[in-house]
Amino acid sequence: MYFQTGAAFSLSRAAGQTERRIPERVKPRPARPRGALISKNHVGSATSSSPGKGDTPVLAAQAGDMEIKPLTDFDWTTVEPEKLRPFKPTYHITMGLRASTPSDLILIDRGYLRCIQGRQAIMVDHEATVLGAIPAGHAAVKELYSYLLGEYLPARYPSMFEIETTDKIHGTSRFINKVTGLKSPLSLVPEDPVAALKIIAQTVEDDMFLLQQQENTDTGPGEHKSIAFICCHPAGFDPSEKLGKGLKTIHTPVPAYEKIGPSMERYFSRVEAGKSVKRVNWSVQTHTRLFAPSGNHVYAGETVKELESVDIETARLRVELQTLTRLPKTRALVFSFKTYLYPLADIKAEGLGPQLADAIEGLKAGNAPDMWVYKGGGRWGRAVCELLRSGSNVD
Ligand code: HEM
Repeated sequence: MYFQTGAAFSLSRAAGQTERRIPERVKPRPARPRGALISKNHVGSATSSSPGKGDTPVLAAQAGDMEIKPLTDFDWTTVEPEKLRPFKPTYHITMGLRASTPSDLILIDRGYLRCIQGRQAIMVDHEATVLGAIPAGHAAVKELYSYLLGEYLPARYPSMFEIETTDKIHGTSRFINKVTGLKSPLSLVPEDPVAALKIIAQTVEDDMFLLQQQENTDTGPGEHKSIAFICCHPAGFDPSEKLGKGLKTIHTPVPAYEKIGPSMERYFSRVEAGKSVKRVNWSVQTHTRLFAPSGNHVYAGETVKELESVDIETARLRVELQTLTRLPKTRALVFSFKTYLYPLADIKAEGLGPQLADAIEGLKAGNAPDMWVYKGGGRWGRAVCELLRSGSNVD
């Protein structure tokens, strides 16, 4: 099971790659091909670091450890995707957050190029559904763009991404994706937020919602609102409908959300830069699509027809590995998630068919029993459980 295997998030298991710590730097540089700490400029509070001390750990102490550990010799073509098996016999709705590190923000494996090509096609056909920002999100989009392309990716994956100086005199540079060949502006971040989001979306496989906490009111702390998003892999909802809305409204269809909503708001307001967290979410679908803006969830008032059988060739366990990160300048939160689709045939082959079947039935048994209906159990539950418990792997 996912959190019981301590190595679930370890990247060092990938073939031929090594991890090394690199010295912290205080001065930001326009191009940082080797990668290091998030720049001093990037961390607003760093200006109080002692002058004249050179490379000191003050920055990390103040802003959380924003160090990015480079994966030198990383060969993405040889890295197996994470095998996440988070299901449990009884489903309880919880925040389920675990500590993470800035280094683990983006995971890359051998599915990278295919996934990026898929995202490019999705954006051509559904741009208005999968990308968007409100004016309150423009600064955060720029910060996210600069952080990912100018700092994180070239530092973490130097074999895949690099910064090229285009004009030494003016110190201008651009970002090179060595896998896709895409060259993107860096010194001049695109003014159009959708253009910037589109570049991010075809550089990483992760979907991202940017959130900003609203002003406190007389009745309590301000809620977190979605101010920009990239969501090429929505699981049953239209991401564009969530833009400009608060977490409570965003989660309106989610059964028992009221059990975790207030703690989420409180927790989100306390996330520090450099103290990232992660969680996982799972569901089952009977098709192979990552872009699923409808169909995966069942909403109030919808009627469902129970399926007689499902096709093991197309049925998938869908798992989202979600992370939460604070951008230090705008203080926006980045809620990012990478979506994994695992054939049910693989789950069976691992001998986990009965456990997943128990977990599916366990959706009805915990503190959010309507999850069974919401996740579509009323449609595919019986047929999938039968399949998972049957002797053969090719039903
Ligand atoms: C600790 C953080 C969070 C928790 C515990 C949480 C929990 C959940 C759960 C349990 C579901 C239903 C699960 C399912 O579909 O299989 C859900 C759905 C969803 N969550 Fe979250 N969530 C979190 C953060 C966020 C954030 C930051 C956003 C971004 C805006 C978000 C957007 C959504 C959306 C769009 C859905 C689908 C709603 C629909 O069906 O219309 N969640 N969330």
